[in-house]
Amino acid sequence: MSSETSEVITSTEAGTEVIYHFLATSEELKRSGGQLTRWVGDHDILLYEHEGGLKAISNICRHFGGPVGYLKAKDGIFTCQWHNWQYSCKDGSCLTHPGLGLRPYAVKVTGGKIYVNLLS
Ligand code: FES
Repeated sequence: MSSETSEVITSTEAGTEVIYHFLATSEELKRSGGQLTRWVGDHDILLYEHEGGLKAISNICRHFGGPVGYLKAKDGIFTCQWHNWQYSCKDGSCLTHPGLGLRPYAVKVTGGKIYVNLLS
């Protein structure tokens, strides 16, 4: 289900203005057990806590587009329920088919809200 939002923040990084789009609140992530998926514009994003930090990667499996984050990560690995391709929570790299990793998104947290850079 698509969830459009227009809330953005900007940040100057290496002399360039970068736009971050609202994804979820920290409270929502906490209530979801540290892992949730959400659409931001045309991007299906998997947001999760990993080793004390926050990460966001594409939720679209590189095989046939299954929802990578439908099941909770286990032992640092996401397993797509459609055909069991596996991805590392560390960086979205594909463990079963090297070179076919998931797109990462830069994350920024401010004021209890989590934002992602859709162009990162
Ligand atoms: S769609 Fe994910 S393993 Fe096939």
